[in-house]
Amino acid sequence: MKYKRILLKLSGEALMGKKQFGIDNDRLMQYANEVKEISDLGVEIGIVVGGGNIFRGVQAEQGGMDRTQGDYMGMLATMINSMALQAALESIGVYSRLQSAIEMKEIAEPFIKRRAVRHLEKGRVVIFGSGTGNPFFTTDSAASLRAIEIDADVILKGTRVNGIYSEDPELNPDAKMYDNLTFSEVFNKDLKVMDMTAFTLCKENNVPIIVFNMNKPGNLKKVVTGENVGTLVEV
Ligand code: GTP
Repeated sequence: MKYKRILLKLSGEALMGKKQFGIDNDRLMQYANEVKEISDLGVEIGIVVGGGNIFRGVQAEQGGMDRTQGDYMGMLATMINSMALQAALESIGVYSRLQSAIEMKEIAEPFIKRRAVRHLEKGRVVIFGSGTGNPFFTTDSAASLRAIEIDADVILKGTRVNGIYSEDPELNPDAKMYDNLTFSEVFNKDLKVMDMTAFTLCKENNVPIIVFNMNKPGNLKKVVTGENVGTLVEV
C-alpha cells in the first residue's frame, strides 16, 4: 500500500452519472464499491463530496442571488450527497461516520477533528459534509483543509478525466496528460487542478494531490496501491 490515510474528493456533478440532475444510483453504488475495496485493504479514508449536481452557489450568484445565501445552499447540497453516500456504503457493509461543518445534529455528528481521526483509526470511513462551513470556499478547499487536519498522506481528486492535461481534454483531444508535476509547474503553466485557495493550502502544507479518473472501475485501488494512474502533484 502506498498510502495509509487518504482524503478522497468526489465531484457532486459526477454523481449525476447520465442524469441531468441529482444522484444516479448506479454511479453512487459504483463509488461506494470502489471505496469498500480500499477500505477492505485497510486504507483509512476521509471523503469530501461536492454538491454541484444539486446546487452551485456561484451560478446562483450569476442569477442574481446573494453569494453567501447561494453558498450555504450549496453546502446543504453536499450534505444530501454525503448522506446518500453514507447510505450506499452502509448498504454494502462499510462502517462510516458523517460529520458536518454546519451543525445539524439530528442527521450528522459535528465536525470534530480528534473524533474524525479516532473514527479513521477504527477503520470507519469518515464523510465530511457541508464543505468548510463557510461561504466563498469550494469543496476542493474543504478537501484540502480536511486532508491537512486529519494528516492524510495524499488528496485523491476523483474526476471524469484521466489526469491533469496541458489543455482541457474535453475541448482539445490533442491535449497532453502529465504523469507528474510539481506545485510550481502547476502555477507556472497555469494548469487547472483545484481553485487557488485549495491548491495553495496543499502546497503550503505539503500534501500531494493525485488527479485521476474515478469513473474507471478499479482506478481508486490502483492509485492507493501505487500504480501509475492519473497525475501526481507534489513538491
Ligand atoms: P466510538 O465512541 O469510537 O465507538 O464512536 P461511535 O461513533 O460509535 O460512538 P457514538 O456513541 O458517539 O456514536 C454512535 C452513533 O451516533 C454513530 O453512528 C454516530 O455517527 C452517531 N452520532 C454521534 N454523535 C452524533 C450527533 O451529534 N448527531 C448525530 N446525528 N449522530 C451522532
